[in-house]
Amino acid sequence: MTNFISRISRRHVLAFTAALLFATTFSGPSFAAAAKPKVGIIGAGRMGGSVGTALAKAGYQVMFSSRKPEELKDLVAAAGPNAQAGTVEQAAAFGDIAITVVPYSAMPEIAKQVGPVLARKPLLLDISNPSPQRDGAEGEKALQEGPAEYLTKLMPGVKIVRGFNSIGFGKIPNPVLPNGGKLGVAMVGEDAKAIEIATTLARDIGFDPVVIGPLSLGKYLYRPSTYFNGTQSADEIRAIGKTVGK
Ligand SMILES: NC(=O)c1ccc[n+]([C@@H]2O[C@H](COP(=O)([O-])OP(=O)(O)OC[C@H]3O[C@@H](n4cnc5c(N)ncnc54)[C@H](OP(=O)(O)O)[C@@H]3O)[C@@H](O)[C@H]2O)c1
Repeated sequence: MTNFISRISRRHVLAFTAALLFATTFSGPSFAAAAKPKVGIIGAGRMGGSVGTALAKAGYQVMFSSRKPEELKDLVAAAGPNAQAGTVEQAAAFGDIAITVVPYSAMPEIAKQVGPVLARKPLLLDISNPSPQRDGAEGEKALQEGPAEYLTKLMPGVKIVRGFNSIGFGKIPNPVLPNGGKLGVAMVGEDAKAIEIATTLARDIGFDPVVIGPLSLGKYLYRPSTYFNGTQSADEIRAIGKTVGK
């Protein structure tokens, strides 16, 4: 009898342990992954590749895109099992949220291809910076109007947050200050839900985000503006943020 009871309890203990192991191994990560929005990334160069890789490693499902997605095999392999590649249309359709990280000269074409799709998402994180030298007339226009204002005209309804604009792509995998603290990242936005998603995403890849104000301040996030240089802490960004555009 004692043997029987101890065999039963041993079986129960084993079953419980197996259930616990299963729950820890499978339910935990898949639940966490399910809670993260899928990310469609328009652009997969130095910056898009780095941000997408960091997101994939942090448990986000990402789709990189390019006009030649077949050339993204190495990037996808390096980013791991949460990453895949597709066309711009496929990435836009895939993502619960989207990131644009392309030259501004590409924006009119992207707006034509997927503008209405991007406008239905709760967040378009725009990491791109207009540069007249590189982007010609579109870069000049976006610089004059302000990048978010320019994008909103091209794609009415997009919920834009701009961020990571002054962070060099080499810093993305290791966003650490010399004192070991987290690297800050300045952001601008107006839509509360979009800001919440963008700041969560920044935290999930190791940054300390600071929303410095509305989209009209978006033109001050990158060079030639001297406010932010991609090496500042969140406290420094908060202090500098109060002076921006004043
Ligand atoms: N590099 C940085 O450290 C850094 C930091 C902050 C912000 N940024 C900004 O991020 C943006 C990208 O910079 P990057 O350095 O990553 O440039 P990059 O290495 O030259 O990559 C540019 C990407 O844009 C894509 N692209 C270009 N035209 C396109 C179009 N018409 N449709 C779809 N995709 C198109 C390219 O894809 P395909 O040519 O393969 O189609 C490529 O994936 C720029 O606006 C830059 O100012 C860069």
